[in-house]
Amino acid sequence: MEISIQQAVTNNRREKPPTDATLGFGKYYSDHMFTMAWNPENKWHDLKITPFAPFNLSPATMVLHYGQTIFEGLKAYRTETGRINLFRPEKNWERLNQSAARLVMPEIDQEVFLTAIQRLVALDRDWVPDSYGASLYIRPTLIGTEPFIGLKPSSTFLFFIITGPVGAYYPGGFNPVSIQVCERYSRAGPGGLGEAKTAANYAASLLAQKEASGQGFNQVLWLDACERKYLEEVGSMNIFLKIKGTLITPPLGGSILGGVTRDSVIRLAKSWNIPVEENRISIEEVLEAQRNGTLEEIFGAGTAAVISPVGLLNYKGESHPIGDGKTGTLAHQLFDEIMGIQYSLKPDPFQWVSPIHLE
Ligand code: COI
Repeated sequence: MEISIQQAVTNNRREKPPTDATLGFGKYYSDHMFTMAWNPENKWHDLKITPFAPFNLSPATMVLHYGQTIFEGLKAYRTETGRINLFRPEKNWERLNQSAARLVMPEIDQEVFLTAIQRLVALDRDWVPDSYGASLYIRPTLIGTEPFIGLKPSSTFLFFIITGPVGAYYPGGFNPVSIQVCERYSRAGPGGLGEAKTAANYAASLLAQKEASGQGFNQVLWLDACERKYLEEVGSMNIFLKIKGTLITPPLGGSILGGVTRDSVIRLAKSWNIPVEENRISIEEVLEAQRNGTLEEIFGAGTAAVISPVGLLNYKGESHPIGDGKTGTLAHQLFDEIMGIQYSLKPDPFQWVSPIHLE
């Protein structure tokens, strides 16, 4: 596969941020990006890695008006030996193409997707932080680029990958967050875009998140759009509950994103002989379990945050502590295990990590 590479000149390289607690998430970008274009005649073409730079887009570009965009999130981890690991990148490729089908966008070949990430991360290897907990976030994105403001699928597309060093997603790090159950808004409805990783789902969450933050809560818990009864997701993560020793997570029924971390949590828990149920669970059932003392833990799972323990649930103006309000044992164990595998500090029984080839 031909990927042309134009390296950033030395005096145009960006300064790398310190990889301490100030690193945060989403503030810094590395020196290069990958791009390729699609049109009906040439299909995918013009594969290149160039210096990170703004795009020149017409104000009529379709993505800007109708939101025809999908993306992925994965990370590269530097291990103690200096090797750089990816974690299940083929799952991101799979989901990208599922999102592409829903948003009427062209598929991307697995080899192209994985090779582009390989070459980009290898070129910007110095940007992969060397402290445990920090990593290089990778954001593959596909947008409709036709300059046209009638409503229809775009006929041209741009796929790009940018990367940047990140630390903890939440400023509080791996500490319990407080969650407000959202009664007023929905993230996604049946037949909608919920299972696609597309901007609209994140845009739908902004006002609810703003209102919850205004009332002092860290995140929003989404209920189903029809009855506002069943749990769907928390913030931008999948949700898990441990009740009477069983790990429960809502099933992927079309309105919930099929998270890579969600899948990893389920597989790890099963391998530890923890019963796992992918079942609908109502907010009333959760509160009943909280009242009768059988609700042991709640946590979110996602690429950016990894595992995010929930210490408090607020519903209809009342706050309910979860467990003892501290990080639960299982959340802790999963966080350590997933991070341990990602940084090659623990065995990788499922062969989830693959190295970046640093020739
Ligand atoms: C991720 O977890 O990778 C996401 O894409 C969520 C985003 C809000 C950072």
